[in-house]
Amino acid sequence: MSVWARCALALSLVVLAACGQRAPTFEERFRPAYHFTPARNWMNDPNGLVYHNGVYHLFFQHNPRGDRWGNLSWGHAVSRDLVNWRELGVAMPERDVMIFSGSAVIDAANASGFSSSNAPAMVAFYTGHDPRDGAESQYLAYSLDEGRSWTQYDGNPIIERPGIGQFRDPKVFWHAATQRWVMVLVHSGEQRIAIYTSDNMRAWREASVFGPGGLTGGPWETPDLFELPIEGGGSRWVLSVGVTGQAGLSAGSGVQYFVGTFDGERFIADDGAPVGVVRWVDYGSDFYAPQTWSGIPAEDGRRIWIAWMANTRHAEDVPTSPWRGMMTIPRELRLVERGGRYELVQAPVRELESLRRDVVVQEAATIAEGESALTAITALGGAMELDVALRPASTGETGLVFAYGTETRLRIGYDARIGHVFVDRSEGGAFDRDSFRRRHYAPVPLEGGVARLRIFLDHSSVEVFADDGARVISDAIFPDGGLRSVSLYATGAGGELVSLSAWRMAAMERD
Ligand code: FRU
Repeated sequence: MSVWARCALALSLVVLAACGQRAPTFEERFRPAYHFTPARNWMNDPNGLVYHNGVYHLFFQHNPRGDRWGNLSWGHAVSRDLVNWRELGVAMPERDVMIFSGSAVIDAANASGFSSSNAPAMVAFYTGHDPRDGAESQYLAYSLDEGRSWTQYDGNPIIERPGIGQFRDPKVFWHAATQRWVMVLVHSGEQRIAIYTSDNMRAWREASVFGPGGLTGGPWETPDLFELPIEGGGSRWVLSVGVTGQAGLSAGSGVQYFVGTFDGERFIADDGAPVGVVRWVDYGSDFYAPQTWSGIPAEDGRRIWIAWMANTRHAEDVPTSPWRGMMTIPRELRLVERGGRYELVQAPVRELESLRRDVVVQEAATIAEGESALTAITALGGAMELDVALRPASTGETGLVFAYGTETRLRIGYDARIGHVFVDRSEGGAFDRDSFRRRHYAPVPLEGGVARLRIFLDHSSVEVFADDGARVISDAIFPDGGLRSVSLYATGAGGELVSLSAWRMAAMERD
């Protein structure tokens, strides 16, 4: 750290102490090692995800003045590798309107005319939410200094629909085939997605409306629409939509997706998007408002997203301090064909491997009924990655149990009686809520009798990728103490450990 940075840090500690606030140490209880969290205060959705000049930008819904939802502004963090994140100052503070969710793109051809030099403008689209009457309109702002400072467009709002109350979360992308900009946003209460197009980013025309379809039990939020190649040729478009209220799989918020075609104007779901037929992106409780990065170069070719790792049902009450809210790990997306339809598949980005330390490889073994401790894996500590293949006993549950503190037990395993992988956070813990203390299941077929799980465990979260990433369970956890033991367990005899590798995960760098 430079002398200036040290002085700035010392000064901010003095200011914080004078205000009676606790300074972040990044070693607080529940502070994740490798999941992005703001140093302090509230965070919800990822916003304005854009890659530019070798840097991934992560803007986010942020309350710079408190650790609960409110005063919504855009926070800002940057990374060169999707792993180590440096938090910058607030990019867009709230004004007369709160700065709700939205997206950002690079206007390389200067279609907007906002750039007066060779350096293209970074253009952000967000919803301005008027706290007095709840009215929502779409706004534009641009930055000529890599997202540090923003100029509000003097023609704002760019889209106004008086009478439509909840009308928000613009996600903008370039549609190469029609050479136009496209925006998707929600009519939240009507469970519809509106699709707009533009040549210059300033004037927008409504091209079509999609929905309702799939899960309609709660308001729709934070849509994204993107194309994914299909292995073996061709492509399809994926439309993801957050559903909030009590509607999701875990009786809170969740994310559904549709697969179909998009011609630049209209999205048509392959299955007609019948109401009540729901395709989940994630089977856990804490995966919401995902957004994909724009601007990732064609040479890289990946489609990557990140999500807010929380559930609207309990997000404001989780026991973390001096921050509240974290992101998932970034995930690469693919589509695979299965049983005549296309399924969304997620994989942790490969860059996360740079955090792997101290590998432990466990020998294949039978798994006895009861628990058998894995001492070397326990020694890796509370932030680890595990790659485990199990041949589950046919009579019950086979898996891993992580014991923490005095009474918290986190179970991750396979229940062969119902053919499901599960994450169980119902036993003990520092967050005593019935709606939180649950077990979450995902249907996973065995392959040659084996279930393979990739598990990303951090100090207050777990993400389990099963069935090659076609099923993911993402859950926040709040253990009542440090990790005490990791064990194999089974409720019946006959299970087998086929292979198990585990790595300690180093903490991210923050500057
Ligand atoms: C989703 C959401 C968005 C909205 C933002 C406000 O979590 O409700 O629909 O723009 O959060 O913070």
